[in-house]
Amino acid sequence: MEVLQRIALLRAEVERHSHNYYVLDASTIPDAEYDKLFRELQALETQHPEFLTPDSPTQRVGGKVLDGFAPVRHALAMLSIRTETDTTAGGAQAFDARVRKELGLNETDAPVEYACELKFDGLAINLRYEHGVLVQAATRGDGETGEDVTQNIRTIHAIPLRLQGFTADVLEVRGEAYMSRADFERYNEQQRAHGLPTLVNPRNGAAGGIRQLDPAIAAKRLLSFFAYGLGEVRGWDMPATHSAILDALAVLGLPVCAERAVVRGTTGLVDFHQQVAAKRDALSFDIDGVVYKVNDRALQAQLGFVTREPRWAVAHKYPAEEQITLVRDIDIQVGRTGKLTPVAKLEPVFVGGTTVSNATLHNEDETRRKDVRIGDTVIVRRAGDVIPEVAAVVLEKRPANIGAPFDLFQRLQGKCPVCGSAIVREEGEADWRCSGGLFCPAQRKQALLHFAGRRALDIEGLGDKLVEQLVDGGMVATLPELYELTVEKLAALERMGEKSAQNLVEALQQSKHTTLARFIYALGIRNVGEATAKDLAKHFGKLDALMAADAERLQQVPDVGPIVAQSLLAFFAEPHNCDVVRQLRAHGMYWDEQEVQAQAAAPFGGKTFVLTGTLEAMGRDEAKERLELLGAKVSGSVSKKTDFVVAGSEAGSKLDKAIALNVAVLGETEFLELLSKHESL
Ligand code: IVH
Repeated sequence: MEVLQRIALLRAEVERHSHNYYVLDASTIPDAEYDKLFRELQALETQHPEFLTPDSPTQRVGGKVLDGFAPVRHALAMLSIRTETDTTAGGAQAFDARVRKELGLNETDAPVEYACELKFDGLAINLRYEHGVLVQAATRGDGETGEDVTQNIRTIHAIPLRLQGFTADVLEVRGEAYMSRADFERYNEQQRAHGLPTLVNPRNGAAGGIRQLDPAIAAKRLLSFFAYGLGEVRGWDMPATHSAILDALAVLGLPVCAERAVVRGTTGLVDFHQQVAAKRDALSFDIDGVVYKVNDRALQAQLGFVTREPRWAVAHKYPAEEQITLVRDIDIQVGRTGKLTPVAKLEPVFVGGTTVSNATLHNEDETRRKDVRIGDTVIVRRAGDVIPEVAAVVLEKRPANIGAPFDLFQRLQGKCPVCGSAIVREEGEADWRCSGGLFCPAQRKQALLHFAGRRALDIEGLGDKLVEQLVDGGMVATLPELYELTVEKLAALERMGEKSAQNLVEALQQSKHTTLARFIYALGIRNVGEATAKDLAKHFGKLDALMAADAERLQQVPDVGPIVAQSLLAFFAEPHNCDVVRQLRAHGMYWDEQEVQAQAAAPFGGKTFVLTGTLEAMGRDEAKERLELLGAKVSGSVSKKTDFVVAGSEAGSKLDKAIALNVAVLGETEFLELLSKHESL
């Protein structure tokens, strides 16, 4: 095939899959396949720079760092909309009444038709397409003149660089660039993990991202876009209604939010406002209200404008998701995994639809970075179903006699507020933790669940609800106490029949015979996952040998470094943990001690595999088991030591990392071939 033809085909394919993924939210190709197409395109363009065009999907990132943004004069002013602050049904009524009056309609006339949309909370952007190609993107600015942010807008995958089957001279599309809640949370989590500043809210994330002078940094913010209107249009026969315009934009490949409706009259508006309010928390992005627009463009023209606002549109707000309130105290909570989280105790405030009196401060570093202190006035944010958080301090309102910056260790005098064990913060970790492990009541439920888990002792029937009942009812506080449960005691519990009680006692009995690896894993030692537990069992053969090992001996085990060694030492240094082991043994728990496996006939002996994505032919557990039977080690993360990454469909960051580290990648077919080749031997 001609190179140019191949390039065109690759571009069309990459664009199609990218549109399905970013706009339609439906992946149509495994990541690995997409990456292959993308890289082939990149390679061809490098070999043939004469064929490179700015609308190629390879050209989204890669712009230069700018000194500043050039001003852009809008061909058509970017207007704002009047805001109806009455968040009750009255807001919709008032708008419909105004429209009817302006149009000279009386009670007997038919209801007016409206296009209802969401009011996205991001940054307004004008996209200019000439002959179907994106040539410029600008912010709103003062409405007359904005800033040229084309480079950064190109990094938004949802925005097409070329419109599908469209060649009109000029089409300006207006809409909102925004950051989804998930991308916002993910971004902040990563920043927190690295001890870096976090974003206050998704809107600031979007605005800051678009105003980044370095497009590579802008690309990291992961922004999205929804089209909601038009600017200058030349050479296109526009549909007669607003809703039909948005439908047409969607056909051209632009992202248009599906959450919209065409309704009639006040009741239609009120219904829409209420329906969206009920869904607001479940949306994947922030909104601060809805927008009503007279649907018929002829009527819009008749209504015209007042100053800079059209008479045919209005924004109808919802209660704010951010509020200002006072920090009365800072408490420290112990999570189910021992993580210590500072929590601001607030003067109760109504935000995001509920009264909030606690808000998370995440960890010590973040509390210090934001410099939140008792007595401060803060901005609290509660959006979606995430836990309310302190977004920022209002420094102007800080009292002169405020106390010292927050210090978690000092505050707790080094002890867990629940069990009194020492608190620790490991190097490179953002969180302080209680070192009490299964001794700490706050961590008991988690420890029991982990112990009973499928990959640990696999005690069938001992799930969430039952553990809750057992711990809250004071029947079980430690792991060994599980084995003191009797059918009578269990049958007395609510929702527990005689039969289930018997089954559980039976399952507990069975769990006593296990493997050393499972037992080590079941103890829930920090940083000791399933793979490490297996390595330890293989290496030491006997539990007593493991318990007696020093740091040096521990680090002789493959993949055990100083952190894991430290966790093991700390665990077995606690007398109450050794007690647990002793008592479990006293209850009859046993395993085959000389389990040091022979390495013979293991075709993948010494090889490390990482599984990612979804395999068609089998679940991840099965894949893992089959690999392990062949002597392979299956690890959860990709490193330079990884020998193979098996990438199923929708493989994500692990695959990226494998590619970056030049680790061999197997597709599902190759993987199955490899398995069958060795399994039959
Ligand atoms: S229409 C002539 N529709 O709200 C009407 N605006 O003041 C122009 N916004 O910052 C705007 N969602 O970016 C419109 N569905 C929507 C919107 C929307 C959010 C923003 C817009 C601007 C402000 C309007």
